[in-house]
Amino acid sequence: MEAPLASLLRDAPFLHSLCDALGSPLNVLLPEAVAENAARFRSVYRRHHLAGRVYFAHKANRSSALVRRLAACDPAAVGVDVASLGELRHALSCGFTGDRVMATGPKDREFLWLAARVGATVNLDSAGELERLARLVRTHGLGRVDVLVRLSEFESDDGHAGAGTRVLSRRSRFGTPVAGADELWDALERHGDAVELAGLAYHLDTTGLEEKARALERCVLLMDECRARGLRPRAVDIGGGFGVGYVADAGEWERWTTALSEAVLGVRPPLTWRGHGYGLRNEGGTVRGTAALYPAHRPVAGPGYLDALLSRPAPVLGRPPATLLLEHLNDLYVEPGRALVDQCGLSLARVLDVRPTGDDPTRHLVRLGMNAGDVSLEEHGVLVDPVLLPRGGGDGDRAGDGPVGVHLVGNLCLEADLITRRLVHLPRLPCAGDLLAFVNTAGYAMDFHAHHAQRQPAARTVAVTEEDGAWRWCPDEDYWPLTDPQGVPS
Ligand SMILES: Cc1ncc(COP(=O)(O)O)c(C=O)c1O
Repeated sequence: MEAPLASLLRDAPFLHSLCDALGSPLNVLLPEAVAENAARFRSVYRRHHLAGRVYFAHKANRSSALVRRLAACDPAAVGVDVASLGELRHALSCGFTGDRVMATGPKDREFLWLAARVGATVNLDSAGELERLARLVRTHGLGRVDVLVRLSEFESDDGHAGAGTRVLSRRSRFGTPVAGADELWDALERHGDAVELAGLAYHLDTTGLEEKARALERCVLLMDECRARGLRPRAVDIGGGFGVGYVADAGEWERWTTALSEAVLGVRPPLTWRGHGYGLRNEGGTVRGTAALYPAHRPVAGPGYLDALLSRPAPVLGRPPATLLLEHLNDLYVEPGRALVDQCGLSLARVLDVRPTGDDPTRHLVRLGMNAGDVSLEEHGVLVDPVLLPRGGGDGDRAGDGPVGVHLVGNLCLEADLITRRLVHLPRLPCAGDLLAFVNTAGYAMDFHAHHAQRQPAARTVAVTEEDGAWRWCPDEDYWPLTDPQGVPS
């Protein structure tokens, strides 16, 4: 945990009073932290002398406070990537002008029309989408729209793998395979009255630097091909996926994943609810399958990952992508979601009930005032222990009690409603009224899967700011990035 989040957690009375007033579950966001993360991405651009924008992938969090805080950043440096009509409307209402917006993802007519109307850049998924956009522009007399084309399945000759070896990046159901790009260039020329090619894009669902470097290099070369055809692209958009390091200690992560394999083999007691293996299985004494888990310890993540990607020699030309971008006069766009909201918030849940599990008296069930939709750690394979904030104060480590393994269950009347399927170790057994704080949930875990099943309350979200060592809060929707001359938000 970095300083602001750690200092917020130390103020347990403040967090208890928020939950007392606003109920459980409760999401708490630090808008200043998102601006700090944007500044870190920008410093990587500066280090490599690159121009272009950092677009926040809005899908990672629904908050208004975060989007408004980003809208207040340097317009030339920070934009927003919206993947639905609702996100586009929200971004505009939070202060983003259309020219700072990138429209990605699947698009219906309404989304395309509003994006075109406000002068957003449309990140096109296919030639079909280009046809639809061009028709819309003409029918409604809209101005020429800046477009990027999203490519996928990058194929290249790999110098490392041996001359003539073709290497393909993974398949995606988004984007146009590079092999079919000629059709796109033809369509872009045909629709030159309605759209202008602003650049090429990709978003690869991988943590592999090599695969991303290959795609980046290929895009730089394709940009030159486009220019040779008379098109005038300016930017390469390398999407998101820069990642977050949730667990600082590599050894801790390795020990846990090793123990999970041992538990699956049955050589140690289960670490999970009813022996769930997170994708691993025991086949005749051998562990098979792949653990469907987010790599929680990532030594290089976020802005550091971007730096590493830009610095390592690319596979074909052997030059760092940053140098290629500079030499070919290309701007760089990135669309970080998770990494831009790293350290930006936490989710609180009240402990409602504690009881021994039926089959093992040393293990307990802890029922929370939240359900699996309110903190979708399992859904995204993110495994981080919550922090216990006792009701009466203290550090959760009371004398006489020892560490205890508990299963965290939710407030739905549903067997499957487990907050996490693994055994969580707390410094002592919690009591009804204590709080559990799930830290660093702003990226996808906070509200992506929130719902109103059983009419249970969805979490409210508050924005907090620190002034003179004290925390102030307001509802997320009432946060505006304004300060009076004394620096106090008004
Ligand atoms: C096109 C696009 N851009 C950006 C992102 C954000 O990815 P991340 O949150 O991993 O940075 C996504 C995630 O799905 C995406 O599909």
